[in-house]
Amino acid sequence: MDSNALIHPYSIVGRSENEFIRIVSGEGVKLTDDAGNEYIDGLASLWLCQIGHGNRTVIDAIGAQLDQLATYNTFEPFSNGPAVELAEMVRARSQHPDGRVFLACSGSEAVDTALKFARRIHHLKGDTDRQIIVRRSAGYHGVNVGGTSVQGGAAYREGWGDLMPHVVEIPNDDVEPAAQLFAEQGDRIAAVISEPIQGAGGVVPPPSGYFEGLRRLCTEHGALLIFDEVICGFGRTGSWFAGQTFGVAPDMFTFAKGVTSGYIPLAGVLVSRDIADLLEADETKFMHGYTYSGHPTACAAGIANIGVIESEGLVDRAHEIGDRMEEGFLALQGDGMIDSYRGLGGIWACDLGRDATEAKEAFLKRGVITRSIGNALAFCPPLIITDDEIGQLFDRLDDALRATAP
Ligand SMILES: Cc1ncc(COP(=O)(O)O)c(C=O)c1O
Repeated sequence: MDSNALIHPYSIVGRSENEFIRIVSGEGVKLTDDAGNEYIDGLASLWLCQIGHGNRTVIDAIGAQLDQLATYNTFEPFSNGPAVELAEMVRARSQHPDGRVFLACSGSEAVDTALKFARRIHHLKGDTDRQIIVRRSAGYHGVNVGGTSVQGGAAYREGWGDLMPHVVEIPNDDVEPAAQLFAEQGDRIAAVISEPIQGAGGVVPPPSGYFEGLRRLCTEHGALLIFDEVICGFGRTGSWFAGQTFGVAPDMFTFAKGVTSGYIPLAGVLVSRDIADLLEADETKFMHGYTYSGHPTACAAGIANIGVIESEGLVDRAHEIGDRMEEGFLALQGDGMIDSYRGLGGIWACDLGRDATEAKEAFLKRGVITRSIGNALAFCPPLIITDDEIGQLFDRLDDALRATAP
């Protein structure tokens, strides 16, 4: 249908609907458009579809929940079984099995919730001057006002008028400037927010020892460490959460995307027991919540999805995917087709040493969807991808790189 009703996210708004690729179906790692072209989903939609498309178990769980109770809120005094069970499942797999879980709809809502929690916690302690949120220069944290304010990339922050005050940026890859900031303003810092592996900023793993350094600084100065696990959570890095992969426990973390593999939007924030104690001791009403917090059908999707991740061994499979991907990148590097590569488990990028847009387009024409970020091509396939499909992906990547080599 030709129509200009829909405004696409992250798009040139004037672009005609006819120029968009209309995806009509998905099965496993494969997608099909309305012209019958098939694609390998090399980015798991937007870094999210761990279990692949068309998973019957999750679809049936959603259907069953729709039949029983499609929707109801969880504002006091109401609750529902799927929301309670999902919260239990998330904390049981985290570094804070005695923590508590707040549910939302999107990663952006989770980030804004975490930022509000951070300030609220200090407020409850009577430390109302602690408002500074520290962001990292290549961070991506969604598009609500709080998240926009803590974006690393200036392009995300500019053009919207005034954002949240009391945000300070530190360089991406060095703990020294963070130490200096804490030395100068440590008693005013509420929290540091960081993705464990930065995704949209270019798939940037942390420098060795970086998170240990941030953790130490936060603890010494009474600030909170927030991990934004929206991309990294639910097996992507070979552990349930990337804090476990890097051996550093945050005070709270956000999650979204992989919690349902995107079948229904769902997100949340997990807080540690210490934070939960403070929230629980507050006798005034907790003035934060979304209409869809604890949406039963979304939570049923999450419960079934976590079950599939577990029964198919996808957390461990991420390690094998990582090995296959690294072999592929090494071969391309050996042939001089890429400059370098980075990543781990099921999330990677290769650097072409030139703008990667043309290569991404050539790759798409060869039936693989990825994303170009500056000079890099990013990869984040469903964790059900087979070795054979990874082989197909690299064959087509090799072909696309040869076709666009300078
Ligand atoms: C690390 C991170 N945080 C937050 C978000 C925002 O999530 P959403 O687009 O679901 O609002 C994203 C989205 O890609 C993300 O990668």
